[in-house]
Amino acid sequence: MSNPSILILAGDGIGPEVMDEVKKIITWYGDKRGLVFDVTEDLVGGAAYDAHGVPLTDETMARAQEVDAVMLGAVGGPKYDVLDFSVKPERGLLRLRKEMDLFANLRPAQCFDALADFSSLKKDLVAGLDIMIVRELTSGVYFGQPRGIFEENGERVGLNTQRYTESEIARVARSAFELAKRRDNRVTSVEKANVMESGILWREVVTAIRDAEYPEIELSHMYADNCAMQLVRRPKQFDVILTDNLFGDILSDCAAMLTGSLGMLPSASLGAPMANGRPKAMYEPVHGSAPDIAGQGKANPIACILSFAMALRYSFDQGDEATRLEKAVEKVLADGVRTADLMGPEGGTPVSTTEMGAKILAALDASL
Ligand code: NAD
Ligand code: IPM
Ligand code: MN
Repeated sequence: MSNPSILILAGDGIGPEVMDEVKKIITWYGDKRGLVFDVTEDLVGGAAYDAHGVPLTDETMARAQEVDAVMLGAVGGPKYDVLDFSVKPERGLLRLRKEMDLFANLRPAQCFDALADFSSLKKDLVAGLDIMIVRELTSGVYFGQPRGIFEENGERVGLNTQRYTESEIARVARSAFELAKRRDNRVTSVEKANVMESGILWREVVTAIRDAEYPEIELSHMYADNCAMQLVRRPKQFDVILTDNLFGDILSDCAAMLTGSLGMLPSASLGAPMANGRPKAMYEPVHGSAPDIAGQGKANPIACILSFAMALRYSFDQGDEATRLEKAVEKVLADGVRTADLMGPEGGTPVSTTEMGAKILAALDASL
C-alpha cells in the first residue's frame, strides 16, 4: 500500500516559516515512528499569484482533491492589497475550501496550564479551558449570491448575501453533535435569529436534528453578540459552539486570545467521508500571514504544529501520535519556552520560530 499523502501549501508571510517546523515534525514521524508520508509541496495565495498570476492553479486544486490531507500555512499580505478581488490571495484559500467541500471547520481553543497566566483574562477564567468551535465553512455570506459592487441610483453599492440551505445547516450540525458526543454532550448553537431569517432557519434545523438524532445532547441557543460577550465573561460555560461561517471566523479569533495568542490556535477543515472512510481534509492555523512579523523569525509555529496533530487524529487514524505531539508542545510550554507573542509584561527572552520547533522536536525525542 502506498504511504498516506500530504500536500503542503505554505503560502505567504509567516506561512512558510511556521510550515518549515511542521515539515521537520513530519520527517520525525517517518524516521522515529515509521509513519512515512508522501509529501508534495505547491504554491497558494500571493506566492501562487507571483508565479502563475492566480492564487491557486487548477493543477494545485486537482492535487488537493487527490491527497489524504492538505496542510496550509497562511495567505495574504499588504503587497497584494492592490490586486483585483478575483485574484487576491484569500480567493485561493476560499476556492480550496469550497471545491473540496470542507463544510465543517473545527477550531479547538484549549488553554495550556503553562499559559493560563498569560491570557488577557484572569487565570481562573481560562485555566483548563477546552472549547470546540465548529464553524460552517463553505456557505453563508462568504459565498452567497448575489454579490458584487455595482451602481444604483448614482452611487455604488456593495452587496453580499447570507444564504443557508437546510441541508447545509444539517450536515454541519451533525458534525457538531458527533463531536459533542465524544466531549461533554453540550452544544451551543449561535446565530442571530432575532434579526436574520437565515438564523431562524438555522435554529429550527439544528433543533430538529438534535430532537430526532441526538436526544442525549444538551442543546442551547445564543445570539452571536451575546456569545462574543460570554466568551470573555465566562468562557468555560461552553463545550461545543456551532455557528455559521462569518460568526465562526470572528468568534474563533476571540477564543484564540483566551488561550494566550492567535499563534496557538489550530484548525481542521473537514468534508464528507472519502472512499477510505476518512474525511476530505485541510489543516490550517487560525491565524493569518502576520505581515507585521513576517521574515523576522518571530512567528509562533505552535498553531501550525497543532494543526498537524489534528491531521494525525482526523486523517491518519493516529490519535495516540496526535496526543504525543500535543504533549510535546505542552511540555515545552511548561518548561517556559516562549515565542515573542507569548511574552507577558514581565518580559523575558523569546525564542525564534526555529528554536521553538527544535524544542518541540527534542520533546518528541524525549517521549520515546
Ligand atoms: P493575522 O492573523 O495575520 O495577524 C493578526 C495579529 O496576530 C498580528 O499582530 C500578528 O503578528 C499576530 N500573529 C498571527 N499569527 C501569529 C503567530 N503564529 N505568531 C505570532 N503572532 C502571530 O491577521 P491580519 O493581520 O488581520 O491579516 C494579515 C493577512 O493574513 C491578511 O491578508 C488576511 O487576509 C490574511 N489571513 C489569512 C488567513 C489564512 O490564511 N488562513 C487567516 C487570517 C488572515
Ligand atoms: C480564517 C481567515 C479567512 C476567513 C480569510 C483569510 C479568507 O480569516 O481562516 O479565519 O475569513 O475565513
Ligand atoms: Mn479569520
